Amino acid sequence: MAGNNGIRIGVIGGSGLYEFDNLKVIQRSFPETPWGYPSGEIVIVQDPRGFKIAFLARHGKGHLYNPSEIPSRANIAALKHIGVEVIIAFSAVGSLREEIKPKDFVLPDQIIDRTKGIRHSTFFENGLAAHVSFADPFNQTLSDLIYRHKSVLEKEGSTLHQEKTLVCIEGPAFSTRAESKLYRSWDCDVVNMSAIPEAKLAKELEIAYQMVCMSTDYDCWKQGEEDVTVDAVMNVMLQNSAQAKRLLETILPDLEQALNDGKFESIKGNASYSFVTSKE
Ligand code: ADE
Repeated sequence: MAGNNGIRIGVIGGSGLYEFDNLKVIQRSFPETPWGYPSGEIVIVQDPRGFKIAFLARHGKGHLYNPSEIPSRANIAALKHIGVEVIIAFSAVGSLREEIKPKDFVLPDQIIDRTKGIRHSTFFENGLAAHVSFADPFNQTLSDLIYRHKSVLEKEGSTLHQEKTLVCIEGPAFSTRAESKLYRSWDCDVVNMSAIPEAKLAKELEIAYQMVCMSTDYDCWKQGEEDVTVDAVMNVMLQNSAQAKRLLETILPDLEQALNDGKFESIKGNASYSFVTSKE
């Protein structure tokens, strides 16, 4: 693997966001980690102002992996290895709320995990036991920083919603109508298949992680709306990916400044008091 080359900002792209073709590519790597290879190449891109980010397409370029197959441990470990301290993770979501309209963006602050336990969701195993706090799965500082730039989305007719609850399902099938209604009764606001285990693994490696969700559909709970299909998700994502890129470009100066000011330092040490296994 390439050594730590000081790229502090990582971006994970979800369905429909497979590259940052508007930015200059300065390096590509496909590192082998102790947990195998990541979903695809990690592409270091630079914007015209000199800000650099490490980009990785969660499903691989060409969407090779379904959500249960994504090599999340390799993805997060590879980003950590190159120096990433914060991750902005884009994801398409279904909306469980009338007011979260298709093409709106959402910064969730909570997760309900409805995956089935078949995904590798910890680095701590095989003789190393640790239990990190996961009370707040996302990073509030990062969420607030992104939220301050909501006007860039509003200019194009999309609302940015904050402090919402995301339910992560196993998939790959979408939810049944009864499940969709159940998640609404649990006060969930959006549904996807990707937040777990990414958010857990980022916590374990002390990376500030925030998912930026792009609402593509009303799942299947809403009368008078088409039930979700892949076509509908991809159609909205194609229209929304330019907005996602603009949002990212807009926040980069603030994010770099926040990193330089040590605003994410508190997450370092998050795992220090988590180990059960004795160090001897
Ligand atoms: N991703 C986009 N829309 C979705 C939905 N309705 N359910 C799960 N994942 C999704």
